Amino acid sequence: MSLLIRPAQPTDEAVWRQHWRGYCDFYNASVSEAVTQHTWTRILDPDASVMCIVAVLRGEVVGFANCVVHQNTWELQAVCYLEDLYVAPAARGQGAGKAMIEWLRNAMRPEGWARIYWVTHQDNLIARDLYDQFTPADGFVRYVLKA
Ligand SMILES: CC(C)(COP(=O)(O)OP(=O)(O)OC[C@H]1O[C@@H](n2cnc3c(N)ncnc32)[C@H](O)[C@@H]1OP(=O)(O)O)[C@@H](O)C(=O)NCCC(=O)NCCS
Repeated sequence: MSLLIRPAQPTDEAVWRQHWRGYCDFYNASVSEAVTQHTWTRILDPDASVMCIVAVLRGEVVGFANCVVHQNTWELQAVCYLEDLYVAPAARGQGAGKAMIEWLRNAMRPEGWARIYWVTHQDNLIARDLYDQFTPADGFVRYVLKA
């Protein structure tokens, strides 16, 4: 099986948009075209803090991980927030999700990130099954105030 993880490139726009829609649908979220366009533009901008890697399975882009790299108050180094992880339904269970997290873990030292962190819903047992293979959940609970 050929599985490759690599940074997103301009020619991935259509397939990234397709999977981004799938991801938003998974969360029953409606994200405007303005936000989608802005996110994609930042992904391609080397000076922006947003980055994206894609999983290519047998030559087809089947999923993505969107990350935000940011400063923090606990370490000198930046940290990587894995904000969105998605693999298209037909390609699931073939290692693409795990390989994207492994790619990020391997990038930590060369990129100078102190850590990678991410959150998921407590009931997302499939994702949690994957995440538990990397590290146990740390017990912090998220609070959100909306504007
Ligand atoms: C979570 C997700 C990214 C996993 O992607 P994937 O490519 O299918 O994952 P992998 O094939 O690498 O599977 C890795 C692990 O996930 C778990 N897993 C995958 N499919 C599973 C299933 N149907 N049931 C239970 N666990 C499952 C297993 O622990 C598996 O490890 P194993 O292969 O050693 O058994 C994918 O299911 C997805 O996109 N789901 C919808 C969006 C989502 O939930 N994103 C994460 C939100 S934070």
